[in-house]
Order: sequence, then structure tokens, then C-alpha cells
Amino acid sequence: MGFIMAASGSAVGLGNVWKFPYIVGENGGGAFVLVYLICIAVVGLPIMLSEFTVGRKTSLNPVGAFQQLQPGTPWVGIGFMGVLAGFLILSFYGVVGGWTLAYVVKALTHSLDQFTNPSEAGKFFGTFIASTGEVMFYHALFMGITIAIVIRGVHGGIEKACDILMPTLVVMLVILMIRALTLDGAMEGLKFYLYPDFSKLTGQSILVAMGQAFFSLSLGMGAMITYGSYLPARENLTSATLYVVLFDTLIALLMGLVIFPAVFAMGLEPTEGPGLVFSVLPAVFTGMPFGWVVSILFFTLLAIAALTSAISLLEVVVAYFIDQKGWGRKKSVLTMGLVIFVIGIPSGLSFGLLADSQLFGMTFFNHVDNISSNYLLPLGGMLTAIFVGWVWGTKEAHKEIERHETTFHWAGYWEFVVRYIAPVAVAIVFLAKFFPTD
Ligand code: TRP
Repeated sequence: MGFIMAASGSAVGLGNVWKFPYIVGENGGGAFVLVYLICIAVVGLPIMLSEFTVGRKTSLNPVGAFQQLQPGTPWVGIGFMGVLAGFLILSFYGVVGGWTLAYVVKALTHSLDQFTNPSEAGKFFGTFIASTGEVMFYHALFMGITIAIVIRGVHGGIEKACDILMPTLVVMLVILMIRALTLDGAMEGLKFYLYPDFSKLTGQSILVAMGQAFFSLSLGMGAMITYGSYLPARENLTSATLYVVLFDTLIALLMGLVIFPAVFAMGLEPTEGPGLVFSVLPAVFTGMPFGWVVSILFFTLLAIAALTSAISLLEVVVAYFIDQKGWGRKKSVLTMGLVIFVIGIPSGLSFGLLADSQLFGMTFFNHVDNISSNYLLPLGGMLTAIFVGWVWGTKEAHKEIERHETTFHWAGYWEFVVRYIAPVAVAIVFLAKFFPTD
């Protein structure tokens, strides 16, 4: 159970609670959700098992793992790409993590349960993320906590924390969902979220859905290789994969059931963007029984969930410098943590000072998110699938999966999707993006 909770701790984070609702909102609702679920089943699931397997087989960081399985071949490039992706993702993830810490403090000081209408909550959030000092302070605080935890190593404490955190988060979301569904006008939101209107799908939104599947499951950059490398042989990889995927998807879907009924009941636009959750939730807390307590609990849980994900991102980068470059843990964590914080600064300022410094209509924050989530992760995942499916081979992988006499019940499905469907699906989505037909 400890491993499942730790891997879930990496997977469940801002991707589920903050990003999923706002990109569903921006991409038209139900049809996008359906594409997302298909991506989870045919791309996410097989690649997660592949990453766990490569990790446990080699007990190494992503670069070392590919090197050991295919020495002296370009396949180690997947590992390098992963380290780079970890770098980039954590740089903006730390900014949003900082927002959640700030919201814990704002909840405590009664700033979040006072809104008479949701557009006030939206304005309040807009003013906050446009600030310079406050945003930088919380960004630094979030990265500082992440660094402090990773310096001590990821074993032990984190697994225990996740054991409590994850189930509590589910309970919390169910309470909020009941509240949201009983608001007047909630049904409109349910319809938007669950009824697929395919006319709203574009090549771009399919790419975003796929990128989100990778992002939410922490795939495509070796995080799950790293976690798999800490696994003892007796653990059952296939059921761990199923649990983590189901759990992560459950949290994201529940979050949608909280947000969209509330968005429509309160007359907000679902296309609000990265501020969606931060604008809607305070309005949900206001007027709710025990709203103050709920607001504190919710943002505390979210901040912890963000931390357990950030830890896994930093760990990939750090494991590389420790194993491959021979650096000490302390030096690796401090140096890389600091560099990532600095690269994150322009992302943090993208909603204020640098909001108008755009390239192709996107801010620095948007670009870093887009490059890493929508390109690096799917590319890394596709190459991992090809590697495990064809180069290292499903036969060897299968042996590793069954190393401890566990029978792999869905081996047929896995071998087929990992060899044919996952690589082809990613390739098609990329091609459709680069050679748009519409
Ligand atoms: N999956 C996390 C979330 O949903 C973010 C994350 C952690 C991640 N580690 C990762 C994303 C590795 C991609 C790759 O918030």
C-alpha cells in the first residue's frame, strides 16, 4: 500500500485539482473529458506500467536505466529529455504551488469565505497573482519546503503522509461536490461537463487532452521510473498501476463535479483559465455550513498534494545528478532547487509585471507549460512505449513484471497497446497538430 500511495502522491496534485477543471472549461466540456479518458486508457495506463517496469528492473534513475538496458545507444536521450522536462515543469509548478500556500494563509485569515458574489472572488485572485512581492514570497516558500523534504530523501515520511492525505482528499471533494450539486442551476454545469458535444473538439484540444493525461499521471519524464526503482520485487506492478491510474482519474473527475455545477450555478464563464478553481471555490465556501473550516482544510490538502508532486519532480532531476554525475544529495538538491526557482520567476510574474510580454500570444508561463506538458511529455512517453514494446521488448518486460510469481492478467491488452496503439496514437496527435486539416 505504501508504494501505491507514494506513486499516487506524485500523480495527484495540481494537475487534477487546478489544471484539469480549467482546461476542460477552455476546451468545451464533455467531449474533451471523453478524449481525456480514452488517452488515459490507451496511452497512460500502458506507459505507466512500462515506466514502473523499467524502474524496478534497473533500480536506476531514468538516464541510468536506459543506459543499462541498451548501453551506448541514443535511447538514453529519453532519460535526458525527462530530466529537462522535470526542470521545466517544476519551474511553473512551484509558482502555482505558491498560490496554494498563499490561499491557506488567506483562508486562515478569513479572506476566502467573505465573497457575496464569485466575480469578487475572481478579482481578488487576479489582484493576488498580479502582485510581485507576495507571489515571489510564496513561490520561494513552496520551493524551500520542497527542497527541505527532498534533501532528506524520499523514503519514509512521504509514504506515510500520503496514506492519510489521499483518502482525506477524496472525502473533502465528496463534501464539496454535494454542496456544488445542490446549488440552484447546477444541472447546466453537469450537462456541460458530462454531455459530449463533439463540434467543440479541435486538433489542439486533442493534443491538450493527451498532454494532460501524461501530466496528471506524472508520465513521460521518468518520474515513475524513479519511483519504480525504489520498489522491492515482491510488489505487484500491474495492480499498482491500476490503482494509481484509477485513483488519479477519480480525483480529477470528482474535481470536475465540484467545479462545473458551481461555475454555472454562479453565472461564471468556464473559460476563465488558470484562475478558475481559485475564483470559484471561495464563492462555494461562502455561505456553506462550516465554510471557513472547509476552506482551510481544502487549501491545506491541495498544498500538500502539490508538495508531494513537486517532490517527485525534483527527485528525478536530483537522482540524475547524484547517480550519473556523482554529486552529493545535498549539493544536488540545493543547486537544482535554486536554479529551478530562478527559472520559475518569469512564470510567477506572467500574470502581473510580465503579463504583456508575450510571444505568439502566450506568456512565459504558458510557453513553459505548453512545451513541457504538450510536447516533451507525450514525446518522452511515446519513445518509452517504443523502447519497451520493441527495443527492450515486451518479452523481457513481461518477465520482470512476473518476477515474483504474480500472474499478469491483462498482458495481452498491455502488449498490444504498448507496441501499437500508444506510439501510433501519440504520433497521430502530433501530426494532426503540425499538419492541421482544418
Ligand atoms: N502529476 C502531477 C499533478 O497532477 C504533476 C507531476 C508530478 C508530474 N510529477 C510529474 C507531471 C512528472 C509530469 C511528470 O499535479
